[in-house]
Amino acid sequence: MTAYQDLLERLPREPRTWLVTGCAGFIGSNLLEALLKLDQRVVGLDNFATGHQRNLDEVRTLVTPQQWSRFQFIEGDIRKLQDCRHAVQGVDHVLHQAALGSVPRSLADPITTDATNIGGFLHMLVAARDAGVRSFTYAASSSTYGDHPGLPKVEERIGKPLSPYAVTKYVNELYADVFARSYGFHGIGLRYFNVFGPRQDPDGAYAAVVPKWTASMIHGQDVFINGDGETSRDFCFVDNAVQANLLAATTTADDARDQVYNVAVGGRTTLNRLFEGLRDALARNGVQYDREPVYREFRAGDVRHSQADVAKARRLLGYEPQFDLRAGIVAAMPWYVRFLAPQR
Ligand SMILES: NC(=O)c1ccc[n+]([C@@H]2O[C@H](COP(=O)([O-])OP(=O)(O)OC[C@H]3O[C@@H](n4cnc5c(N)ncnc54)[C@H](O)[C@@H]3O)[C@@H](O)[C@H]2O)c1
Repeated sequence: MTAYQDLLERLPREPRTWLVTGCAGFIGSNLLEALLKLDQRVVGLDNFATGHQRNLDEVRTLVTPQQWSRFQFIEGDIRKLQDCRHAVQGVDHVLHQAALGSVPRSLADPITTDATNIGGFLHMLVAARDAGVRSFTYAASSSTYGDHPGLPKVEERIGKPLSPYAVTKYVNELYADVFARSYGFHGIGLRYFNVFGPRQDPDGAYAAVVPKWTASMIHGQDVFINGDGETSRDFCFVDNAVQANLLAATTTADDARDQVYNVAVGGRTTLNRLFEGLRDALARNGVQYDREPVYREFRAGDVRHSQADVAKARRLLGYEPQFDLRAGIVAAMPWYVRFLAPQR
């Protein structure tokens, strides 16, 4: 039995109270769904900056009324310390996901990204420390590897950040580290690598590549590839990220805390291969896409290649990704086909 299977069996017998910040967003709503299905009590905090009520509504349809009754939603803003203090009251485990994602958004508006991702993060740290929570797990990012050329990426070897967004996510790690040294407050950072799956927003200028391309294919529009298509990523299905969060939050091993971990699969897929994979998966879901991709300029701030070494998460957390890219696409496509069907 893996550490995660063991945890999934244990948790419903030992319900706890979790705070998921950013619970109306993509990863946050997947955490909410998983926790409610495990009969946990969940407090959610979100200001709907990029998240949606529809994500919460969908989770409601996926759990029982009794499970849903264990969810308390707080509409609030992590840029306000009092909202953070309110949300952490009585909480055992904090899963801090709220942030403004997207490299291009941060290049367009570094000030708001900084206020949310650094100022908001610091508020959450202070509030969680003062409330005496049992664990604090936060969304870090593979963007922290910046211009370091090494592959696969190992946690200790990072380069210079390539965007304001990457700066903010690295500063999160620095603050978490300082809170451990200065106050004995322990945190775990999860460096997500290109997470994808149901409820990831396909709309807007800052949409991520998987939902953006899937939407374009379903709507019969051009798919744009930034650069030559040989840029590569370690695409990670959201269930793997959920697993990492639950394992990190509940670990009792001292050497597993005050650490950052890569969260991905350990694979590397080029954008050209991703395009083919999505097109094939849609065909199996009854959507034919016959166009070729349109190539355009490389995008500022983008890392050329990204691939995680997940050995550290395996060793210290017992993390075993259950979905590779192919399995993740198979699992995610029916949701996109439903969500983006023409009647929408
Ligand atoms: N999706 C990825 O591939 C990826 C990769 C690396 C890191 N991350 C990090 O994971 C976390 C979740 O990302 P996601 O993809 O689910 O994005 P998302 O935009 O879907 O979710 C973020 C949520 O945070 C909320 N939020 C933003 N500002 C807020 C504020 N001031 N107060 C309260 N709530 C606020 C948004 O409304 C949204 O619901 C973020 O911290 C992101 O930086 C994501």
